[in-house]
Amino acid sequence: MSNFIMAEQNSRVISGDDKIFGINKLAQDMAAKEGKDKVINATIGSLLDDDGNLIVLSSIVDVLHDLAPVDYADYAPIAGVPAFLDKVKTAAFGPYVPEGYIEVIATPGGTGAIRNTIQNYSRRGDQVLTSDWYWSPYKTISEEIERNLTTYSMFDDNGGFNVASLDEKMSEILEAQPGLVVLFNAPAHNPTGFSPSSDDWDKIVALLKSKAKDPAKKIIFFIDIAYIDFAGNTEKSRAFMPKLSGLPENVLVIFGFSMSKGYTVYGMRSGAMICLSSSKAVADEFKMVCMFSNRGTWSNGTRPAMVALVKIFNDPVLLEKVSAERAGYSAMLAERGAAFVSAATQSGITTCPYDSGFFITVLCENAEAVGKELQKDGIFTVPIGKGIRVAISAISAEASKKVAVSMAAAIKKVNG
Ligand SMILES: Cc1ncc(COP(=O)(O)O)c(C=O)c1O
Repeated sequence: MSNFIMAEQNSRVISGDDKIFGINKLAQDMAAKEGKDKVINATIGSLLDDDGNLIVLSSIVDVLHDLAPVDYADYAPIAGVPAFLDKVKTAAFGPYVPEGYIEVIATPGGTGAIRNTIQNYSRRGDQVLTSDWYWSPYKTISEEIERNLTTYSMFDDNGGFNVASLDEKMSEILEAQPGLVVLFNAPAHNPTGFSPSSDDWDKIVALLKSKAKDPAKKIIFFIDIAYIDFAGNTEKSRAFMPKLSGLPENVLVIFGFSMSKGYTVYGMRSGAMICLSSSKAVADEFKMVCMFSNRGTWSNGTRPAMVALVKIFNDPVLLEKVSAERAGYSAMLAERGAAFVSAATQSGITTCPYDSGFFITVLCENAEAVGKELQKDGIFTVPIGKGIRVAISAISAEASKKVAVSMAAAIKKVNG
């Protein structure tokens, strides 16, 4: 029975505060009480400099400052500013544009793209599939609109991508329901930092084709590319995209694009959903249903962020400035990742296979207790089931090393 007084539970599990923001608050409280230098706060997935200040690309700030009043104050069209819808394709695909019918709808961040995908391509009560390591809002968003999030095992015993588990779970769910939304976060997966190899992508594409052999089944493969601009080489990280060309008509690929990380405008709530289909009718329908969803939820997106992206992609000099600035920070992030992985290896702790991105996950039992043990040393991380997520995006390379070493000690203390 629900304990709610006036609110309706509507089949959601509502547990109060967001876990990550809760631990972040503990870190902030300790820093206020004992001094900033006593705390390493590796909780929040924003890119911070070595002193803990939010990094905002100065090239983006300049563009935003130069916007005309109508560009920051006016409504955007429901589907998004037309030039933005065009430039998002370049921003997302780079030189690796897949072949097929492509349509774009602006959304408030990648979150909006996830929400619209689940809402339009699954039914109430349906299962939505993702990996067992996943970004927790996938579950919140699913439950908010009365779907159930279910998982497959992301890694096999050799630490490789477990395509067999994905296959098995897809078959199981497709036996029970006519369609399936798969949420797939790559490259630089949150929370593990994993990126599929070219070979992994080949296997995934082959799997999608095999599942589509039954024409009565509809498969929606949502690729969450929120971290693509911090996944190492920005061209190489997009090389998988053309592999998704020419899939059967009952497979719809949707890319979830976000300006939050790549353009450091988290709070401006700007992103897009990009569909790829071999059917024009499916792509046209995508546009229609997602516009309807936009109108029925947040109405329109944030015009200034959209116009800023257009200005960047209309001006090669500006684009080069943004790319160069971002590349510098991406190298800084890679350095932190390398520092953490090397200290973890030396300390004898195991991480999920890490390639790039904002997070590394350390495997451990009793993660909650280990997390609490670390807090005694002023180290704040996020326990997530079978492991602990470390946001290297938020701490220096030096602190990354320290966290790995302290984590080895905390794991030993808690688990023996
Ligand atoms: C895996 C993943 N997907 C999507 C997002 C979407 O973020 P936003 O809605 O700010 O674009 C995030 C943000 O943290 C994320 O970690």
